[in-house]
Amino acid sequence: MRIDVLTIFPDLFTGFLSTSIPAIAIEQGRISCHTHDIRAYAANKHRKVDDRPFGGGPGMVMMCQPIFDAVKAAESQDPAAGGGSVVRVLLTPQGERLTQPRVEWLAQQPRLTLLCGHYEGIDERVIEELRPLEISIGDYVLSGGELGAMVLIDAVARLQPGVLGHEDSAAEDSFSVRSADGAPLLDCPHYTRPREWNGREVPDILLSGDHAAVDRWRDAQRIERTRERRPDLLLNSPLAEPQPLPAANTNKPAAQVARATRSTASSSDDAPLHGQTAPEGA
Ligand code: ADE
Repeated sequence: MRIDVLTIFPDLFTGFLSTSIPAIAIEQGRISCHTHDIRAYAANKHRKVDDRPFGGGPGMVMMCQPIFDAVKAAESQDPAAGGGSVVRVLLTPQGERLTQPRVEWLAQQPRLTLLCGHYEGIDERVIEELRPLEISIGDYVLSGGELGAMVLIDAVARLQPGVLGHEDSAAEDSFSVRSADGAPLLDCPHYTRPREWNGREVPDILLSGDHAAVDRWRDAQRIERTRERRPDLLLNSPLAEPQPLPAANTNKPAAQVARATRSTASSSDDAPLHGQTAPEGA
């Protein structure tokens, strides 16, 4: 997969692309990532990329010309990459909220052009001309699309074959595991050595060597966690009702056992948030 990123801050990507999973994906040749400085395409003396909004108002608007020329120049590089097919993505808080199914779809595309906006926004006419898929990484406003582009690159890089090492790793992530009726589930809890830490023990079932029982316990934990923390994911699913946990759910110390029992019996409205105590009066 080839990814072109158009930004006025290409330096932001240097550390990101040379670290961890994105770096592994690049080293393995699964993705190639090319940053382009939009400012370099500004056809004016001062390399200006933004101007004041028509109609007044605060902030500046990114101009059409530098963006359009930067996209055309980036996409004309290595025209064979992607076999002529390019998915353009504009990172914007007004876009479709990024979800794992969308990430999985993007990860299968041969070529992406990621456009990072800044300031108050981008002149609407260049968006109409380029017709990008508009993606938001959440309902909050960032100073620009760069962090969104990095989120997207990381999420697609880790799905490329061989990048995570263990082939099942990505398939077992939150949102990738689904219940029998298709609801996306959060991940189960994980433990490593030592067996006891700070008076807390690893659940016995994980030490039992009974792989089928471990799988059942993990499935039950995924459902329980999703019901407690993200009941919205289970809307229209019978799993929205509390599920019985396997008997071996003895996650000592006693407080944690009590929590699992209590939350199983309670409605999602009064369930504790991520196991934390709710603030006074909440
Ligand atoms: N640019 C600014 N805010 C953003 C967001 N929430 N998602 C994607 N790009 C953005």
